[in-house]
Amino acid sequence: MSYLLCHYGNLPPRRHQGELSMIKLTSREACEFAGDLLVYFVDEEECTCANAPVPVQKALQLAVAAGDFTGAKNQLFYFYPRMVTKTSAEMPVAQRILFAGLGRQAETVNERREQLRLAAGCAAKEAGRLKAGDALVVLPKDYILSAVEIAECVTVGLLLANYRFTRHKTVLQTDEQRDAVEEFLLHDGGLAASSVRKGMNYGRIVAEAVMTARDMANEPGNYWTPTHFADFAKTLARQRSLKCRILEKAALKKLGMGGLLGVNQGSAEPPKLVVLEYRTDKKNPTLLLVGKGLTFDSGGISIKPAAGMEEMKYDMCGGAAVITAMQAIAADAPPKVNVVGLIPTTENLSGSAAIKPGDIITHYGGKTAEIINTDAEGRLILADALAYGIETFAPEAVIDIATLTGAVIVGLGHHRTGLLANNDQLAEQLFEAGEQEGEPLWRLPLGPEYRKQLDSQVADIKNTGGKSAGTIAAACYLQEFVGEVPWAHLDIAGTAWNFTEKSYIPKGPSGVGSRTLVALVRNWKGIKAQ
Ligand code: BES
Ligand code: MN
Ligand code: ZN
Repeated sequence: MSYLLCHYGNLPPRRHQGELSMIKLTSREACEFAGDLLVYFVDEEECTCANAPVPVQKALQLAVAAGDFTGAKNQLFYFYPRMVTKTSAEMPVAQRILFAGLGRQAETVNERREQLRLAAGCAAKEAGRLKAGDALVVLPKDYILSAVEIAECVTVGLLLANYRFTRHKTVLQTDEQRDAVEEFLLHDGGLAASSVRKGMNYGRIVAEAVMTARDMANEPGNYWTPTHFADFAKTLARQRSLKCRILEKAALKKLGMGGLLGVNQGSAEPPKLVVLEYRTDKKNPTLLLVGKGLTFDSGGISIKPAAGMEEMKYDMCGGAAVITAMQAIAADAPPKVNVVGLIPTTENLSGSAAIKPGDIITHYGGKTAEIINTDAEGRLILADALAYGIETFAPEAVIDIATLTGAVIVGLGHHRTGLLANNDQLAEQLFEAGEQEGEPLWRLPLGPEYRKQLDSQVADIKNTGGKSAGTIAAACYLQEFVGEVPWAHLDIAGTAWNFTEKSYIPKGPSGVGSRTLVALVRNWKGIKAQ
């Protein structure tokens, strides 16, 4: 099954086996695995591998003594056990044995989680380079993480590093032909198998969510339209226990969603507001997630420069994060929360009916906005969705996620997502979720002094406020539509694409946000009144 669950219609099928990579728990002895690659993890200081057979440990000692391997982060070493024959009865029969370095002893759980994802990612990339069709990965024992967490992090690292997107290539280069692993086998390495299975299943759920988000972002504007978002949501709801509603253009008009409709005016593709609901007990609190789903942002009449404009197909990454988080949440089924996902989705083009600078729109709920720059469109579609979502679902907290401003790249580069919030408890829970998942956030301030930048002479607010503090000004615009409800905004313009490159995060779309949102929901502690 494709990560995109199958409703492309006009798309060729996946032709690359690696894209369907599987992971399974095995109860076979590592020694008996006769496949392409057997992987062990090694810590830097000890530089031993306690759960490997003695001959493998000896080989490791030799590599260490020769100075070829220290267990450092990103370090790899492999050899061919079949070269060693009769003398070592317990030597595994795999074609290659690979040691993957974990680095120095981690001080925190979050640091250790990242070490495992990184080392597993390095191993998977090396497996791809070696054109290993299958790999058996032996989980390490650990001093700080539970067996569930070990299995989760290794699974996430393996699968995310093994991600490929070749759907639109009719001819594959030779070295692309089989550079992804078709099947990973996890070996419990002596950890409780039931815990390992639990962690692996959860890891697979979130990794699939991320890979699906990457697929959506990789698809160009002509293959991933607002209608595709809507169809994906409908299919998802059918397959998993989610409630799905699509608000079509007529409904948006009735509701008065002047932001989403205004941005859509220049496009031939109809807009949609996708609503997905994960329901548990009515008494449980509801979390509202809102994601910007701009399937292409040309800037509209305030058109962007041609150079690099093709990258604006990824202006839907916030929407992808929310919709795939809902996919993972439905599979993981956290018992104590309700979650609603909203994806306002449209293109921003400059057709003859397009919205113009100077135009005034009316948002859901009645607030008016003067359009200064049609390229500041994300906030317009999010404002409607936030106001509508808060009124309709009375959430305990709201999180929106969007590729909202180029300014966040100036401020934080491609290494941290911008976090802005009107509530410290929510900001802290999000920050921690980001740390846990290796998707770090950094908080920026809000305040009336920034909001002033958006004062309009003719409407309640204007949509841009000059050159300074662009990320904060954008968040101030959104804040206008959330009232007193605890709310946080994630600006992923710098991290959704070309995020800090690491073994399990390739160039291009990272799928950022999806795992952080799922972790937030899973770990939700509520918000105490102050
Ligand atoms: N989608 C862009 C933000 C963006 C820019 C994402 C670069 C990724 C890379 C957003 O719609 C936009 O155009 N923002 C403008 C706002 C400005 C007109 C106030 C921007 O950042 O330039
Ligand atoms: Mn824009
Ligand atoms: Zn945009």
